Amino acid sequence: MKTIVVMGRGGTGKTSFVSLITDYLLKKGEMPLLLVDLDPDQSLGEMVGVDLEAEGKKSIAELLEDTFIGKGGTLSGISPSERIEQRIWEEGMYEGEKFDFIAIGTKWIEGCYCMPDTALKEALGRLTKQYRYMLVDAPGGLEHLNRRITADVDDIIDVLGPSAKSFAHLERARRVAYESGIHYRRFFSVGGFLFPKALEYRAEKIEDIPYLGRISYDEEIARRTVEGEPVLGLMPVHPGPASVFRVMNKLGY
Ligand SMILES: Nc1ncnc2c1ncn2[C@@H]1O[C@H](COP(=O)(O)OP(=O)(O)OP(=O)(O)O)[C@@H](O)[C@H]1O
Ligand SMILES: [Mg+2]
Repeated sequence: MKTIVVMGRGGTGKTSFVSLITDYLLKKGEMPLLLVDLDPDQSLGEMVGVDLEAEGKKSIAELLEDTFIGKGGTLSGISPSERIEQRIWEEGMYEGEKFDFIAIGTKWIEGCYCMPDTALKEALGRLTKQYRYMLVDAPGGLEHLNRRITADVDDIIDVLGPSAKSFAHLERARRVAYESGIHYRRFFSVGGFLFPKALEYRAEKIEDIPYLGRISYDEEIARRTVEGEPVLGLMPVHPGPASVFRVMNKLGY
């Protein structure tokens, strides 16, 4: 199983990038695929055409609360991590034809919420083994990722935004990745669809963070997101998918 984490500042195009990576991997037959939405705003679902609520599915945060906090829980003789794993399969996991999907959700209690966090991490550790790829839309902190989801990832890709501020963010992101205790194999940057071409030379000069190129502006992506339509399934000749194809090739996927 390989894990790819997409992060970056607000509105840089992280979620659409994750959707386009999904498309790319599906086209290559890289299945099964698990998408994980770490964004409390949960916009990944909309971009990949999954409405968890309409599917009768709950977020992981809701399931954790129901299982460990709410009703006190029953002593069913199985471990906390097995209990939450079972509930994720039954009530949290959207199982689609092309990919599976979970949303972590909003209702996090800040600070160490240790037993449930550990149980969740163990459960996800087992549950994710059966996938070929796990793609994570991770706008928030990596600490959250480490504590609740996984400590081991393959690639972290930071999406650069429209200004030079993105570089400060990138440096910070790398430091945070290091300090959060996450083990990652590779760390990259990518220019978001708003990242100016004029700044590319600076991105290319950053040591230890290979720059993978820009995601192209794509009118069809803009139109679909405005209409609330999924961005999956665009023809590969569209500028957005074509640019993600180049990025993924550089990554060796
Ligand atoms: N390649 C693209 N071409 C044109 N427009 C795009 C593209 N990617 C994203 N957009 C537009 O930009 C908006 C923000 O993109 P997206 O939601 O992917 O960013 P984000 O980084 O995930 O934002 P947030 O930080 O709020 O989660 C989208 O709603 C869409 O309208
Ligand atoms: Mg997003």
